[in-house]
Amino acid sequence: MRHLKPLLSLLALLLLLSAQAVPALAHGDSRPDKEAILLVAFGSSMPEGQKALKAFDAQARAAFPGIEVRWAWTSRIIRDKLTTAKTAHPGSPALALAQLAEDGYTRVAVQSLHSIPGEEFTDLEETVKRFGGMPKGLRAISLGRPLLSTPEDLKLAAKALLDSQAGRKEGEAVLFMGHGTEHPANAMYPAMQYQLWTLDPTAFVATVEGAPALDDVLPLLKRDHIRSVRLVPLMAVAGDHAHNDMAGKEEDSFASQIKALGIQTTPVLRGLAETPAVSALWLEHLRDAVKALKEMK
Ligand code: CO
Repeated sequence: MRHLKPLLSLLALLLLLSAQAVPALAHGDSRPDKEAILLVAFGSSMPEGQKALKAFDAQARAAFPGIEVRWAWTSRIIRDKLTTAKTAHPGSPALALAQLAEDGYTRVAVQSLHSIPGEEFTDLEETVKRFGGMPKGLRAISLGRPLLSTPEDLKLAAKALLDSQAGRKEGEAVLFMGHGTEHPANAMYPAMQYQLWTLDPTAFVATVEGAPALDDVLPLLKRDHIRSVRLVPLMAVAGDHAHNDMAGKEEDSFASQIKALGIQTTPVLRGLAETPAVSALWLEHLRDAVKALKEMK
């Protein structure tokens, strides 16, 4: 990837200089159109997390045979961590888009594997915007929305999440652990809680870093005399947060705090990208992005 550095500095310069989009066909750009899909996840430093992304990769390739499928990860911390450990990883979205253009692709459907349209997605949106209409670069670029973006998404996801709990015992509650953020899109989590409650009063949402927090849910578990809870990540991958914050042995993990109330816990270490009913929804969003791409000039 080292050879990309000069290319990227050049791109950065071009981005600075080209406030208005330059017509893509200027100076005889006669390349034939070539389409690709770019799947963009937060990323995961754990192989357990990466397997969820591999599962989604296989689904996307099966759904769009013959179209180039590539990946990018938005988390700089995770990319840097793997680089330091000399472990291969997809690069940033900007790097992947630059490489696609360099490899002769002209039209790219980008699909976000983020859960909500928060900071990671907003940054991705900015990157995608800047790559559109780049001279001799990509001619068209569309962006598929995260899992929970519209009221309809929330309804479908609530049903898919509950339908995916095979082996859930009679009377067992389920708590979906989201990431949470200070970004206004955090509102998707309470909205998700509302949708879940319309289907199942013993389904809860709590986030690691936003609202609702676990402290908001613990009193509800007590109030409802819940005796057992299954813990499920509301995230594409079951990585660091799922293994540590959700299921970890430390006393501040979700599992430990719930157990401290005398409630039994069953962690499910499976990401949503490897949960078929849910990944089907992301795949639908990708279909929308591919369709939007076809409709672009
Ligand atoms: Co985090």
